[in-house]
Amino acid sequence: MSEHDYKRDFPVFEKYPDIAYLDNSATTQKPQAVIDAVSRYYREENANPLRGLYELAVKATDAYENARIAVRDFIGAASEREIIFTRNASESLNLIAYSWGRANIRENDEILVTISEHHSNFLPWQILANEKRAKLKFLKCSETGEYTAEALKKALTPRTKLFAIAQISNVFGRVNPIKEFAEICRANGTLIVCDGAQSVPHIPVDVRELGVDFLAFSGHKMLAPMGIGVLYGREELLEEMPPFLYGGEMIEFVTLCGATFAELPHKFEAGTVNAGGAVGLHAAIDYINAIGFNEIERRENELTKLLVTEMQQVPHINIVGSHDPDEHHGIVTFTIDDVHPHDIAAIFDESGVCIRAGHHCAQPLHKYLGVQSTVRASVAFYNDENDVRRFMDCLKTIRRRMGYSD
Ligand SMILES: Cc1ncc(COP(=O)(O)O)c(C=O)c1O
Repeated sequence: MSEHDYKRDFPVFEKYPDIAYLDNSATTQKPQAVIDAVSRYYREENANPLRGLYELAVKATDAYENARIAVRDFIGAASEREIIFTRNASESLNLIAYSWGRANIRENDEILVTISEHHSNFLPWQILANEKRAKLKFLKCSETGEYTAEALKKALTPRTKLFAIAQISNVFGRVNPIKEFAEICRANGTLIVCDGAQSVPHIPVDVRELGVDFLAFSGHKMLAPMGIGVLYGREELLEEMPPFLYGGEMIEFVTLCGATFAELPHKFEAGTVNAGGAVGLHAAIDYINAIGFNEIERRENELTKLLVTEMQQVPHINIVGSHDPDEHHGIVTFTIDDVHPHDIAAIFDESGVCIRAGHHCAQPLHKYLGVQSTVRASVAFYNDENDVRRFMDCLKTIRRRMGYSD
């Protein structure tokens, strides 16, 4: 692994030099460049964007809209009109379900979701299907977390209006073949919603190359502040969709008995926007672009490989999904025989290793896999071999610390 110490860019590691932060799928740490950009915005450019005509308000508007352009370019969208700022991936997915879903889903229509979806890409469709008396269908994966084109083709019917799938599952860490699935969906007249919460921060994502209709992701999982997220939608779809929230900023004219709505993307951004968050996201994109996905993927893949191969040497560890490190992409979820995941997490915490225990907002998947809960370690490019070593040293002691002799 290259010797560059990216941790030096992240002030949290100066404050806590002894932690091994391996909970990057939950949220990433923030580099100084992002913290500085947000601070500078509030010190030098803050006003209510899109409202005032004075110089400071114009600066705030420019900062906000420049962030949108940066997102457009980052994910290869055709136009900034296709980039809606939301609070997070969850809100982006709810927006599709409320706006597109309520206008387009009818009784007996079918919505297909994978069994491994995060609740944020599961519940909006479940609620919508119940409300519209539509059918919610589930695409099941193999034990290794794989979804096949054959299974997708089989599951689609002429009534399938929408297919919701994460590009990378937050439990398996496996990359799903979204481009191939998008082609299959298009041929069937089915829209594809891609949850990019775990992919956009880690691999290059180009919405036109993938051919997805919608893409949702969160800033906070890609070095930006919490409270800023993105919904990408194809312009023709967004154009036809009714607003999601109503209020200031999203209107054109309002009378006592009606209203017309603003152009895209503002139609979907009611109320005062999170300009500071957008500026932080812009800075995060610039920081990621400066490092480059070649370097990010190389480091994350090397760390994942080290993690998976070392874990496979330890008895009583059960890795969820594939045993091939290349099919984990930074995320390794596991159980230890006879030890409750919350005990595992507590022991890691005593050793300064930050990992996650629970159902990872994927209860249907856990039920399908026949486990109550699991433990997840997830890496980012700023982690290093020492973090993995710390994790492994602790992992090897856990059963003994719980009173088992092997
Ligand atoms: C795959 C996936 N989708 C959606 C989400 C929801 O993200 P947020 O909580 O930022 O809305 C997460 C968060 O962990 C996730 O891992």
